[in-house]
Amino acid sequence: MSAVLETAVLWGVGVGPGDPELLTLKAARVLRESPVVAFFAKRGCVGNARTIADPHLHGDQEELRFDYPFTVEVPATDAGYRSEMSGFYDICAGRIAEHLVSGRSVAVLCEGDPFFYGSFMYLHDRLAGRFSTRAIAGITGMSGCWAAADLPMTHGDDILSVLPGTLEAAVLARKLAEADAAVIMKVGRNLPKIRRALDRVGLLDRSVYVERGTMAAERIEPLAARDPDKPAPYFSMVLVPGRRGAR
Ligand SMILES: C[S@@+](CC[C@H](N)C(=O)[O-])C[C@H]1O[C@@H](n2cnc3c(N)ncnc32)[C@H](O)[C@@H]1O
Repeated sequence: MSAVLETAVLWGVGVGPGDPELLTLKAARVLRESPVVAFFAKRGCVGNARTIADPHLHGDQEELRFDYPFTVEVPATDAGYRSEMSGFYDICAGRIAEHLVSGRSVAVLCEGDPFFYGSFMYLHDRLAGRFSTRAIAGITGMSGCWAAADLPMTHGDDILSVLPGTLEAAVLARKLAEADAAVIMKVGRNLPKIRRALDRVGLLDRSVYVERGTMAAERIEPLAARDPDKPAPYFSMVLVPGRRGAR
């Protein structure tokens, strides 16, 4: 590897779940020092990670904004989904590589933690062999949410299951029945199905719904008390705490 490639670093910067105070000192430093800042966003939106990082950026940095071709409109099971997203990530990686080849480090903003269901991993897959890559751990959305909900989640030997709400109802119910504690992510339009699965395995009364946890528009309520017909946004999750742990 040439000296130029060794000095330029691809950073995956975890910016935490939303509250600007939940971003690490290391993330703040790297954001300040990076000549190029990249981020993914839904078309027409500022971008959640970009919003969180805003106080740490300054006008002298070049910004690479990557608009997802689609977000939740096209299900991941759709025939064209994989190839379209793969082509999109190829283009993003190519644009980032141009900077890295020129010796400019690139900080990719990642909501929560970069290696926990983050789009950064698709860039890492494509670039890690050619360039220096570093991830900065971030506070995950789920830990932000359970702290915001004041909800102790796992005691002793409890097993925590992290489940995507996109799972088929029967699979979701089976996995929930096996779990001590659970976090259900990617809620959005899957909420009615998630609610039914929780009800089926007797966990609805223990479940807490958290919307935009730690952000300004945070909402937290028992899932059972929430209007089942009310739509849930992308940034929402359901927490099922484990056994009450008093010894
Ligand atoms: C693609 S995953 C990204 C996870 C992120 N990298 C992390 O470390 O938490 C997006 C999902 O995480 C959950 N999520 C992340 N942050 C959240 C927050 N602040 N409030 C509620 N849900 C959140 C939602 O379920 C959302 O659909």
